[in-house]
Amino acid sequence: MTPPLTIRRGTLDDAEALALLATRTFLETYRDFEEVQDNADYVADHFQVPAVAALLADPQATTLLAASGADLAGYAVLRAGSTPSCVTGEKPLQLERFYLAEAATGRGEGTRFLRAVQAEAHTLGALTVWLGVYHRNARAIRFYESRGFRQIGERDFPFGGKIFVDPVYAIAVDEIRFPQPNGPSRES
Ligand SMILES: CC(C)(COP(=O)(O)OP(=O)(O)OC[C@H]1O[C@@H](n2cnc3c(N)ncnc32)[C@H](O)[C@@H]1OP(=O)(O)O)[C@@H](O)C(=O)NCCC(=O)NCCS
Repeated sequence: MTPPLTIRRGTLDDAEALALLATRTFLETYRDFEEVQDNADYVADHFQVPAVAALLADPQATTLLAASGADLAGYAVLRAGSTPSCVTGEKPLQLERFYLAEAATGRGEGTRFLRAVQAEAHTLGALTVWLGVYHRNARAIRFYESRGFRQIGERDFPFGGKIFVDPVYAIAVDEIRFPQPNGPSRES
């Protein structure tokens, strides 16, 4: 059986490995949805090592890493700061990135990783978690909805020279739902 991923906070030492993982997971996730060149441009703008190092050093952002041994298999970024007007919950925190490598999906790791995000949100003093998601990313939307997130509005997301309108989801940190290991969903 594959051992569960280990989860920890990222540091500057992770910049190179995270740049590779962020690139890989972005291209895996959106390859069927958008133009190859637009995806490549986005990756070049956001996931080169200096940009990732700046993210890891950003005091407004907390990066969690999920690893299989020495290999990174997922990352999440929690960001404090500006919030769309549709987010009205108290003490909001953005789940800015939440990505697993394709090979690590579909076996409960996303759920475990979301538990770690919830714990980190508690540590950071947040009461609400919100996120924007690409409207064609049906798997992620299903995942968030089945864990209790609800759409509360929309936001503009510039990509490939266009403006996409992404649904915005939010939930109270304590209301994130987790499935029991072998049973139906329940309130955590
Ligand atoms: C969205 C994402 C994080 C979800 O992670 P995941 O590992 O696939 O999620 P899980 O395996 O925990 O759950 C997915 C399904 O697998 C099933 N599953 C299989 N084994 C499971 C287990 N041991 N425990 C819980 N669920 C399990 C569940 O039925 C679950 O279905 P549900 O979401 O309808 O409840 C992941 O698919 C991903 O990284 N996708 C690409 C990046 C992306 O789209 N990110 C979001 C950007 S906004």
